[in-house]
Amino acid sequence: MARELRLAILAIAVAALLQLTAAQNTHTVGDDLGWVVPPGGNITYEIWAASQIFLAGDILVFNFSDGDQDVAKVTKEAFNTCNSTNPISLKTKSPANFTLDTIGEYYFIGTKDGHCKSGQKLAFNVTSAPGNTTYIVGDDLGWYIPPGGEVYYKTWAYGKIFTVGDTLVFNFVNGSDDVAVVTKSVYENCTKNDTIAVYKATPANITLKSTGEHFFTSTYNKHCEWGQKLAINVTANGTATPPSSGSAKPPPGSSSSINGPTAAPPPQNSAPSRFPGRGYFVTSLLFAIALFH
Ligand SMILES: *[C@@H]1O[C@H](CO)[C@@H](O)[C@H](O)[C@H]1NC(C)=O
Ligand SMILES: *[C@@H]1O[C@H](CO)[C@@H](O)[C@H](O)[C@H]1NC(C)=O
Ligand SMILES: *[C@@H]1O[C@H](CO)[C@@H](O)[C@H](O)[C@H]1NC(C)=O
Ligand SMILES: *[C@@H]1O[C@H](CO)[C@@H](O)[C@H](O)[C@H]1NC(C)=O
Ligand SMILES: *[C@@H]1O[C@H](CO)[C@@H](O)[C@H](O)[C@H]1NC(C)=O
Ligand SMILES: *[C@@H]1O[C@H](CO)[C@@H](O)[C@H](O)[C@H]1NC(C)=O
Ligand SMILES: *[C@@H]1O[C@H](CO)[C@@H](O)[C@H](O)[C@H]1NC(C)=O
Ligand SMILES: *[C@@H]1O[C@H](CO)[C@@H](O)[C@H](O)[C@H]1NC(C)=O
Ligand SMILES: *[C@@H]1O[C@H](CO)[C@@H](O)[C@H](O)[C@H]1NC(C)=O
Ligand SMILES: *[C@@H]1O[C@H](CO)[C@@H](O)[C@H](O)[C@H]1NC(C)=O
Ligand SMILES: *[C@@H]1O[C@H](CO)[C@@H](O)[C@H](O)[C@H]1NC(C)=O
Ligand SMILES: *[C@@H]1O[C@H](CO)[C@@H](O)[C@H](O)[C@H]1NC(C)=O
Repeated sequence: MARELRLAILAIAVAALLQLTAAQNTHTVGDDLGWVVPPGGNITYEIWAASQIFLAGDILVFNFSDGDQDVAKVTKEAFNTCNSTNPISLKTKSPANFTLDTIGEYYFIGTKDGHCKSGQKLAFNVTSAPGNTTYIVGDDLGWYIPPGGEVYYKTWAYGKIFTVGDTLVFNFVNGSDDVAVVTKSVYENCTKNDTIAVYKATPANITLKSTGEHFFTSTYNKHCEWGQKLAINVTANGTATPPSSGSAKPPPGSSSSINGPTAAPPPQNSAPSRFPGRGYFVTSLLFAIALFH
């Protein structure tokens, strides 16, 4: 009996591995089980999560029965204590999709009575997609009031592919400039009172941690108005096409991996990078088998 069980589970493992290879960007929570109060308790979604590699930009799909189940994105504390008061977000309609747009930890629970405590909870880490390129903003000019106005940094960014995990290096003169991370509105209007973060020491090495548009300006005098502003799009992987024609240049300084305070991202989105996850999955299954005995 144990032998048959083992073989059955290994067959499932192999099937799951094949699925892992095929399904790159969408993760259906629990696969065929969906999002339920798991019969096996809280280890169920732990094992499932261990079978996946979550990369920034991936999509998480919760498939459940409307009314009987729901899903809330919560903080670590709320996850640990199964506290469903004031979740970060709550979805009550299936399929509930979440885009994993930043790297770091994610926590989800079912908020229906007793569901979380019975194991309807999911936690995992999202790691950066293949990014590992260092870009020197403005190349030799650095981060400076550009001679030709804002077209300078537009031209610099044009055709470059920025992915999560890449690093922008802003070289400027201490005390004469800074780098402000700003919203689109501030970027467009050059208002200064509303920055997300300001880096005052050169070089400012900023690792791109999320997908989507990122905007930078200088808060000094009229530097922004004079064109010292940068807007880029960050994609999850390197497959996005740059705007029109094939003017894509090889990225400058694309050598060393500089990632500021964050952990080094995994290597390119290749088989080896996903392999440890598969090994982990098999290990988890073997662990599960051991539990069944
Ligand atoms: C799963 O349940 C066990 C036993 O109830 C508990 O010790 C453990 O902390 C739980 N794990 C999670 C992730 O909630
Ligand atoms: C969601 O679950 C239902 C039934 O539980 C199933 O028929 C359907 O195929 C599932 N959808 C996905 C996308 O897994
Ligand atoms: C649950 O979370 C809410 C809001 O974050 C908090 O006010 C409340 O004290 C928490 N309840 C428990 C039992 O920790
Ligand atoms: C959620 O994801 C599923 C599976 O990829 C897809 O079929 C569905 O259209 C998505 N729903 C929304 C609202 O994006
Ligand atoms: C995420 O990764 C960190 C560092 O490796 C680890 O300490 C943490 O437990 C992980 N969190 C989850 C939910 O897996
Ligand atoms: C720029 O400011 C104008 C008015 O000051 C405002 O109408 C506009 O919405 C702002 N631009 C953006 C993108 O928010
Ligand atoms: C920043 O200043 C602009 C006008 O100069 C104003 O419309 C906007 O509300 C201000 N934002 C904040 C966060 O104070
Ligand atoms: C700029 O200032 C920071 C600390 O304020 C210092 O570490 C850095 O070396 C300075 N850069 C230059 C080029 O002087
Ligand atoms: C920032 O990047 C530059 C250029 O790659 C590198 O020389 C420098 O050591 C980095 N500084 C920090 C603080 O990471
Ligand atoms: C980012 O991409 C979107 C969609 O392709 C586009 O509308 C937007 O203008 C781009 N933003 C920047 C800063 O390139
Ligand atoms: C990532 O790559 C896949 C194909 O491998 C592509 O379909 C998807 O659009 C890419 N995502 C982004 C955000 O570039
Ligand atoms: C980053 O790129 C360099 C050179 O292309 C490579 O040697 C290194 O292994 C890469 N590091 C990661 C974490 O991908």
